[in-house]
Amino acid sequence: MARTTTCGASWTCTPPSRGPVVTGAPMRAEASSSEGRRSRRGAPRCPIDSGARDRSNCDATRTASFVGGWGAQARRRTALAASLSPMEKVLANPNWPEEFPLKASDFARFDENADRWFYNQPRIVKHIDDNAIRALTRYYASVFPPSGQKDTAILDICSSWISHYPKRYEAGKISGMGMNEVELKRNPVLTDWIVRDLNMNPVFPYDDNTYDVVTNAVSVDYLTRPLEVFDEIHRVLKPGGLAIMSFSNRYFPTKAIAAWVSSGDSEHIWITGSYFHYSAHGGFEAPVCKDISPKKGWFGIGDPMYVVYSRKKA
Ligand SMILES: C[S@@+](CC[C@H](N)C(=O)[O-])C[C@H]1O[C@@H](n2cnc3c(N)ncnc32)[C@H](O)[C@@H]1O
Repeated sequence: MARTTTCGASWTCTPPSRGPVVTGAPMRAEASSSEGRRSRRGAPRCPIDSGARDRSNCDATRTASFVGGWGAQARRRTALAASLSPMEKVLANPNWPEEFPLKASDFARFDENADRWFYNQPRIVKHIDDNAIRALTRYYASVFPPSGQKDTAILDICSSWISHYPKRYEAGKISGMGMNEVELKRNPVLTDWIVRDLNMNPVFPYDDNTYDVVTNAVSVDYLTRPLEVFDEIHRVLKPGGLAIMSFSNRYFPTKAIAAWVSSGDSEHIWITGSYFHYSAHGGFEAPVCKDISPKKGWFGIGDPMYVVYSRKKA
């Protein structure tokens, strides 16, 4: 049975791996249904699987061998790697090429009209299912500074009416940046907000070293100038501050970048990790993936949920 999306049918927030793309969506969005290494024209080269298998390419292994063979450190790292889920392993051994591998064509979109036209209609909807939202909220609860601290500042980019933060979470400052005023006004956690098209103007209107945490929920795939945005995330984070990108396998296929639409979950993790790796002049720690996917329900139904995070080097 075809499953309806949680966010309405006509403007398509499509779960690409399940059923046909809904009305008006381009056929190519279906390409993202296949998980794995398949690389299409326009998609980035993502040497995930080969690298994961080739232990001689693994930084952990190389380091351990250098300091004296398979010692305790190597065993610890091996045990850690073994405990990772397949998706988490993607960033355990990413094999980053020398240069940022995505080309201009990887950031092309079916709908190249200004984003303000697409987002001028408020969408008071959920873009992922309730279990995935709960998983993200639980994750935030586990890493956010304690609630109620006046000197805590959090920024939610690509924000809307819902930020998925823990219930009754409070901080001195919770800023939101998004595309729709009506949505942002309805977001109960935000203490301030601003409408900003980051594809037109990726500069954040905030001071350096302001935020403890920057979040971006299910929206990193819409950024056409991600390295500039990640430079800005880095700039506004306090030293040691945490940037959390999260996503599932749903998206607006006409607005997501070509590299995202033409690849699967593991590539999405790798692409997002690459934004940290290649931005901010190496000012981010190595990005990490956490697979927070909730258990699947009946008939294997349920949105996967991934977090790719990094900290600004202190
Ligand atoms: C799928 S919604 C996710 C909204 C919200 N983060 C959530 O979890 O429900 C995608 C969001 O990305 C944001 N977005 C898309 N294109 C953008 C752009 N060019 N600049 C800034 N934000 C953008 C929009 O504000 C939109 O709300």
